[in-house]
Amino acid sequence: MAARFTVRRLRLRELDRILEIERASFGPDAYDRKLFAEYAHKCGDLFLAAVRQGSIWGYMIVCTRGDRAEVTSVAVDPEVRGQGAASALMESALRRLRRRGIARLTLMVRVANREAQGYYRKYGFATVRRVRGYYEDGSDGWLMARGV
Ligand SMILES: CC(C)(COP(=O)(O)OP(=O)(O)OC[C@H]1O[C@@H](n2cnc3c(N)ncnc32)[C@H](O)[C@@H]1OP(=O)(O)O)[C@@H](O)C(=O)NCCC(=O)NCCS
Repeated sequence: MAARFTVRRLRLRELDRILEIERASFGPDAYDRKLFAEYAHKCGDLFLAAVRQGSIWGYMIVCTRGDRAEVTSVAVDPEVRGQGAASALMESALRRLRRRGIARLTLMVRVANREAQGYYRKYGFATVRRVRGYYEDGSDGWLMARGV
């Protein structure tokens, strides 16, 4: 299924589309343009877009530090979920990380976000620990990790 997507680096002029997906996915918790521009600057080589039929269906940002990496954010347009866009993004990110010799990939996910946890488990992430009050609204998060 993932083969039906092209995964490539985001182009800065495409930030409007990313903001659209972001707002539809996270509502009040959505990152703003300034933050995305910062990530494009700091983690731009792993700011990835999943493209199908000429449009961006989803994005993923992975930031690296030494031989570690973190999924900073991932989201797929709610209209087109369940069709493999997030899988294509994860598979491409893992390939890119392996080429760079990254050993471990971590992320934080809201305890209430079962969909995303299902996705991460499918890709072999395991929970490391519960981080109390991690989110701004006071919610807990799971720290999850896998080898690359
Ligand atoms: C999580 C998310 C990125 C998945 O995107 P997607 O393109 O629908 O995912 P895929 O179609 O590639 O599915 C990948 C796997 O995710 C899991 N998954 C997807 N939707 C799910 C759901 N509703 N419930 C449980 N697991 C789900 C499944 O394991 C699925 O594999 P399968 O199709 O073999 O069963 C998407 O739901 C999303 O954007 N959510 C809002 C943003 C978000 O929560 N991001 C993560 C923040 S930590």
